[in-house]
Amino acid sequence: MGLSLNPTARLAVAIAFATVLVAAGATTNRFDLKPFKIDLTGGIPRLKCLVNSTRLPGKAIYPDAGTDKGIELETLRELRTEWATTFDWKVQQAELNQFEHFTAVIEGQTVHFVHEKSKAVDAIPVILLHGWPGSFQEFLPVIEPLTQPSVSATGKTVSFNVVVPSLPGFVFSSAPPANWTVDDTARIFNTLMTEVLGYSTYVVHGTDWGSSVAYSLYSSFNTTVRAAHFTFLPFFPPAAQEIAENNITLSDIQKVTEQRSISWNTTGTGYDIEQTTKPNDIGLALYDSPVGQLAWIGGKFKLWSDPRAGTPPSVLNNTAILTSVSLYYLTQSFLSSAWIYAQNPNFFKTVYTRAPTDAPLLFSQYEYNVALWPEEYVAKVGNLVSYKVYDFGGHFAGLDNPPSLIEDIRNVAKYLLD
Ligand SMILES: *[C@@H]1O[C@H](CO)[C@@H](O)[C@H](O)[C@H]1NC(C)=O
Ligand SMILES: *[C@@H]1O[C@H](CO)[C@@H](O)[C@H](O)[C@H]1NC(C)=O
Ligand SMILES: *[C@@H]1O[C@H](CO)[C@@H](O)[C@H](O)[C@H]1NC(C)=O
Ligand SMILES: *[C@@H]1O[C@H](CO)[C@@H](O)[C@H](O)[C@H]1NC(C)=O
Ligand SMILES: *[C@@H]1O[C@H](CO)[C@@H](O)[C@H](O)[C@H]1NC(C)=O
Ligand SMILES: *[C@@H]1O[C@H](CO)[C@@H](O)[C@H](O)[C@H]1NC(C)=O
Repeated sequence: MGLSLNPTARLAVAIAFATVLVAAGATTNRFDLKPFKIDLTGGIPRLKCLVNSTRLPGKAIYPDAGTDKGIELETLRELRTEWATTFDWKVQQAELNQFEHFTAVIEGQTVHFVHEKSKAVDAIPVILLHGWPGSFQEFLPVIEPLTQPSVSATGKTVSFNVVVPSLPGFVFSSAPPANWTVDDTARIFNTLMTEVLGYSTYVVHGTDWGSSVAYSLYSSFNTTVRAAHFTFLPFFPPAAQEIAENNITLSDIQKVTEQRSISWNTTGTGYDIEQTTKPNDIGLALYDSPVGQLAWIGGKFKLWSDPRAGTPPSVLNNTAILTSVSLYYLTQSFLSSAWIYAQNPNFFKTVYTRAPTDAPLLFSQYEYNVALWPEEYVAKVGNLVSYKVYDFGGHFAGLDNPPSLIEDIRNVAKYLLD
């Protein structure tokens, strides 16, 4: 026996059914948002065994080559010895797990993120975006202080709800499709902030690849992104000759950065070309080689940070480097992380264009970063309201100079429009 309905009644039933579905959708967990705890201890016996049994040369064949030719043997040996002996993953893991971690599924991608909320009801949401060879770990020293109330330059008390996602393909975020770009990452991170977490407006900070994602957010989501802070930019840093031709005067600190920019450009980008053109070669070669990943990644941490790294205020010591490389190795994400280069072969835009937004842009140049953007250049790409130069810190400000990065982000509050 069939139930026969006339078309109008059928439509009414369909609408009623759809309403029920929508109501159910609102209460069900649309993004599969779940708390997440790190547990990578199962991989430790193999890691320790491989670290211990990997042979290194007894002595360097060219001991005077210097870091210009890559990580020095003695640096690698020292890191390797610490990893095999005193480094205790369980201690590091417990520290990482002191933060609130979550995963959500957005457009089919599992996105891992830390979300630490302030107790203040008027806290400003901020998303902190890391790059390669970093991870969410890069920002851990700044999270808790940012959630705490602090009196800003305007005399207003500010605090932040801090979100630190892992880029797709990095550590606990799933590897995206081969054609995935930083603009796709920006889109799903905007969904993370607005729909998964329910923040109607927010602030972004980005470094390295994270600056590329942050700039995409700043340009394309101008109603939700209300301010942006950068320590790196996805625009070609100008050559020394061009800076001079434009009659731009550099401070002594900026002159140091300019030298770093020149040497990065001339001898420092081999990894970039490799990962852009043959990510599978390096990704598979080092897939099960913790010491290999340590040489490839650890060399960058050493070279791109302040020479005083590891001494206050920097917390970028060997333990931090080994924790970072352990995260890459134990999550088996070194290969997929390398792919971000191949997926976005033109990180640096050649033409400086202004993003269509009235949102304030703040920039901080850390002395030992690997590239220099004078104020005149930064002013071309957005509504520049603050340009700062710091005489301590390098490419990983969250580890290399956390107090200054905290100050940078608090400073954003001064310029927020709404
Ligand atoms: C590493 O090797 C040394 C001897 O070469 C041994 O004493 C130590 O127990 C090993 N450690 C691990 C974690 O395998
Ligand atoms: C990217 O690749 C996926 C499959 O992995 C495909 O479904 C999608 O259409 C592709 N997108 C574009 C823009 O080509
Ligand atoms: C980097 O090198 C390229 C090619 O030699 C050159 O065109 C560019 O201006 C250089 N950039 C910097 C920042 O030195
Ligand atoms: C730089 O200064 C020189 C000498 O005063 C002048 O000839 C040149 O036009 C200036 N260049 C720019 C780009 O302003
Ligand atoms: C590195 O710094 C942390 C604190 O930030 C400390 O707990 C750790 O012992 C240091 N590691 C080394 C090797 O000095
Ligand atoms: C956002 O961008 C659009 C054009 O892309 C522009 O018309 C609009 O004024 C911008 N809004 C803000 C708030 O800057």
